Amino acid sequence: MPENKLSEEIASFEGLWEGGYYEGDPLTPLGKSTYGGFGYISILHATYLRCIKPYINPQTVALEIGAGRGAWTKALLPSKEVWVLDALPAEYNRFFEYLNHPKNVKYFQVKDFECTDLPENYFNYMFSFGCLCHVSFEGMTEYATNIFEKMQSGANCFWMFADKKKYNDFVENVERFNIWDGLSPKRKNLAPFKFVFKKFSKMLQPSFMKTDDFGDNQGHWYDAGTERTCEMLEKIGYKIIDPDVGTIPRDPIIHFVKP
Ligand SMILES: C[S@@+](CC[C@H](N)C(=O)[O-])C[C@H]1O[C@@H](n2cnc3c(N)ncnc32)[C@H](O)[C@@H]1O
Repeated sequence: MPENKLSEEIASFEGLWEGGYYEGDPLTPLGKSTYGGFGYISILHATYLRCIKPYINPQTVALEIGAGRGAWTKALLPSKEVWVLDALPAEYNRFFEYLNHPKNVKYFQVKDFECTDLPENYFNYMFSFGCLCHVSFEGMTEYATNIFEKMQSGANCFWMFADKKKYNDFVENVERFNIWDGLSPKRKNLAPFKFVFKKFSKMLQPSFMKTDDFGDNQGHWYDAGTERTCEMLEKIGYKIIDPDVGTIPRDPIIHFVKP
């Protein structure tokens, strides 16, 4: 393109967007933008974009703890290999059925936290979602300790776990994260629409209660806590990159590496 055309291109902005163009606030979880109803993505997809996509390629050797049916494992499949640990059998989880029997996935039903099936200095990525919140702090510590030697230097690791304080802060501020409240019209003359949004919100949202019920019962949540988990991982020798990547408003996901 000739140089004067390029200068014209820049000059064409003169007088436009006085006061500075403002698309919206990227720091507000449900901030409005000119994308309207298309301006939102699922927190699971945001987690995939932040914690999985940048790290998964044909050189990745991934370890997943607590895969269940394999919803997250599916996102790990472009890896060279995916090794999965779960407390339940693969058949019971219908794991290979859901994933259509991929050749690069190995599944191990665990009976303890020893990780004896895993080779040393082997994995360069680890992911866990929705599992460690059901595992005691002692169990998490055992996993972190026994997996340390299995990870290669520089391996990126992402663990979702439970934090009672984050959970209860979320419950106290649910309207900040509720899509119906986010999209609800703010202007007074739109009050009838606001009413409809509130009704939908009540009908469609799961209700979360503030709780102290992080007990030892089957299937219950264990309050590992973000600070305590960071301290435990650092003591073992991992380096914390981000105590909470922030993609899930209710629960933390920690990003750490094996140095
Ligand atoms: C709520 S599911 C989450 C499944 C999957 N990660 C997801 O988000 O769709 C929890 C899974 O963790 C498994 N699990 C529980 N304790 C475990 C442990 N100590 N080690 C490995 N897996 C475990 C359960 O069998 C179950 O499949």
